[in-house]
Amino acid sequence: ADFDLVIRGGTVVTASDTIVCDVGVKDGVIAALGSKLAKGAKEIDATGKLVLPGGIDSHVHVDQLSSSGAYTADTFLSGTRSAMCGGTTGIIPFAAQFKGQSLRKTVEDYHAKADGQAMTDYAFHLIISDPTESVIGQELPALIKDGYTSFKIYLTYDALKLNDRQFLEVLAAARREGAMVMVHAENHDMIAWLSEKLLEFGHTAPKFHRVAHANIAEGEATNRAIALAELVDQPILMVHVSAKEAIERIRAAKARGVKVYAETCPQYLFLTEDDLDKDGFEGAKCMCSPPPRDKDNQEFVWQGLADGTFDVFSSDHAPYRYDSPTGKRVGGADTSFKKVANGVPGLEIRMPMLFSAGVLTGRIDINKFVALCCTNPAKMYGLYPRKGTIAVGADADIAIWDAEKKVTISIDMLHDDMDYTPYEGHEVTGWPIISMVRGAIVWNDGEVLAKPGDGKFLRCDVPATARPRGTSVHGFNPTSGDYIKF
Ligand code: URP
Ligand code: ZN
Ligand code: ZN
Ligand code: ZN
Repeated sequence: ADFDLVIRGGTVVTASDTIVCDVGVKDGVIAALGSKLAKGAKEIDATGKLVLPGGIDSHVHVDQLSSSGAYTADTFLSGTRSAMCGGTTGIIPFAAQFKGQSLRKTVEDYHAKADGQAMTDYAFHLIISDPTESVIGQELPALIKDGYTSFKIYLTYDALKLNDRQFLEVLAAARREGAMVMVHAENHDMIAWLSEKLLEFGHTAPKFHRVAHANIAEGEATNRAIALAELVDQPILMVHVSAKEAIERIRAAKARGVKVYAETCPQYLFLTEDDLDKDGFEGAKCMCSPPPRDKDNQEFVWQGLADGTFDVFSSDHAPYRYDSPTGKRVGGADTSFKKVANGVPGLEIRMPMLFSAGVLTGRIDINKFVALCCTNPAKMYGLYPRKGTIAVGADADIAIWDAEKKVTISIDMLHDDMDYTPYEGHEVTGWPIISMVRGAIVWNDGEVLAKPGDGKFLRCDVPATARPRGTSVHGFNPTSGDYIKF
């Protein structure tokens, strides 16, 4: 046989094209696209099905200790298992530095967690919480050369937040080395002050999390992050954007040519603040930061997906069990909103929920869906064109979708290690029936076929999306020191 595998007659969709053709796979790589391809050792009839690139979920937390002391329910095994059952064949979780810890040691620790466990391929983003001189000057450049080409910084959370000066140093280092900087933008003091006031008045229920994390706190920090990045001329990617005030600022910055990219997540389309206001402690199940907002803001997020304000749709899978002292209840039973672990799960439902509510309704077209879920995340983080598209030479990471399959989301049918889903009972149409990683079928018609350790670590290139524009601050280039008077 000419090919190890031929997928025949499916509708192949990329970020730019939709075309009925065969896909020939050899040695784990897409070797040919065309009609009437020669025989494969294995053949799949995909007539009437969609053949999409495997999804890249570029914002997930697995096997991670949070600053609250909570621990994610998912390991690299259960996280990647859940991913592939929902059409995602590559994940980029975080290697999270704690203050005082070396970045290299952090990365080694996370590799030990992933080795022999992952079922899909994976890369890492670094979380930088302690940008000391040696971290910025030595560790970061060396790690970027080793394939860790993106990092996340926080403007809030006591244990993680950077001040503006530290953020500038990180931006300048990223600019020197060509890395992408992801930003969690919420104004820390606004949230801390509001939280204190709320608690003084006895407002402890989960719904007050949404009051403390005010829209304007996200708007302000987003605006500031863009200004700081503009000063340094370093591209940034705003993660988990939820508020109208943040979206407006990103849209305006993009319009004047600033390289600011943006990501949003299912929780900002499918949950609202009302979900935090359930009886008792139930609202904790939908608590994440930023929080779900109201219908108006949801509509703004949809608009942003449609008009190109958002580049990436990822899950921010941050799975904390409801009924666990290392999960939502890390601060004790029925504790105040301040002590509830932040985050919701979403690895498996990310693509099906957006497909159903976005593509089938006509809010976004299917090529945009592929761009948001597969291609752009690969481009943002230096994995393209190896990952994120269907093209000759790309890894054969493919998901075959039945666009008519009806599924009622429920914790029982998901493959993560959670004890709830915020989307229980939600009905969707369209689900992947086959997922493959480098040509190997890992998920087939309800059955998990991959083995722990089948997934491989991906070294990321420095992404083209992180290239600066070449602007300078009144003639001064902070990277080279050059000053050109004009
Ligand atoms: O609430 C969330 N999103 N928890 C995960 C950590 C983060 O900031 O992304
Ligand atoms: Zn965040
Ligand atoms: Zn409201
Ligand atoms: Zn996150």
